[in-house]
Amino acid sequence: MPFRATFSCLWCGRPHATRGSDDLEGWAHLCPDCLGSAGENEFRRMRLRAGLAERAAASRPALENDLDDGLRADHAARAGELDDWYLRQGRFAHGAIDDMAWQMDLDAVTLWLDALPLGGEIVELAAGTGWWSPLLAGKGELWCYDAVEAPLERARSRLLAHGLRAHLHVRDAWAEPDRAVDALFCGFWLSHVPRARLSEFLALARRWLKPGGRFVVVDSRQDRSSGAAGDSWDPVSETATRRLDDGREFRIPKVYYEPAELEAALLAAGFSDVAVESTARFFVRGSARP
Ligand SMILES: C[S@@+](CC[C@H](N)C(=O)[O-])C[C@H]1O[C@@H](n2cnc3c(N)ncnc32)[C@H](O)[C@@H]1O
Repeated sequence: MPFRATFSCLWCGRPHATRGSDDLEGWAHLCPDCLGSAGENEFRRMRLRAGLAERAAASRPALENDLDDGLRADHAARAGELDDWYLRQGRFAHGAIDDMAWQMDLDAVTLWLDALPLGGEIVELAAGTGWWSPLLAGKGELWCYDAVEAPLERARSRLLAHGLRAHLHVRDAWAEPDRAVDALFCGFWLSHVPRARLSEFLALARRWLKPGGRFVVVDSRQDRSSGAAGDSWDPVSETATRRLDDGREFRIPKVYYEPAELEAALLAAGFSDVAVESTARFFVRGSARP
């Protein structure tokens, strides 16, 4: 629903006038009392979540929307290249020493993820080509979501090759959760969440989880040999410019969150049991409970 400066509360019917377009009441169409006690009632909780999502979407600056579009377009164009990145093939090869260090870090992250006690219903947001999906599908009932169809097709083949199944659907990672699940996994997605929107995304991640569930992330650390030859990164705007083999160029958000700042952000978002660490060079990995 669009913002309304004055409205009658959808729950109690009392009229309310907001102070400005930032007031959540005007997005949720609930008076302050009903909004303040939203947790007690499913309808008011639903209105609170919808209000938060709509306010966030409306306040997103145009550049961020452009970057979002770039991110989706870049990944749609690169679906076939993501495995090369993991496997350090083609433009992603950086010589025997760096590539061996990469492989050791990737092994360490994989073993760490495999050792986590995940089970039940697992959601993987921005699942891409499903590099991590077979591991997750072996632990519970997996739902792989991505904004783009092409990488999900690759994920489907990968799962089939392992004799595993998952539910694969196109879904925006910013879409409001439609249920609460036991585990939420994001691989190399948080680094595409602009710094200004990190707390918004972590709050959404928390809403995905049942009490006692677990949020798990794996992501990039900055390293001179983690990308492709020809790509560049701007530390001021925290965006990366990527060139494809066919000459097309995309600018996408790329934020290298340090473990300590991710831990602080997770705690601020209301998570507990927070642990974020880095591997020797290339990755950060973390888990937290709602
Ligand atoms: C770097 S890839 C990571 C893929 C996979 N999670 C992995 O760890 O290999 C990022 C993925 O985010 C997807 N993506 C980009 N914008 C998205 C959005 N708004 N919602 C959901 N997925 C999105 C892209 O299509 C791409 O598959």
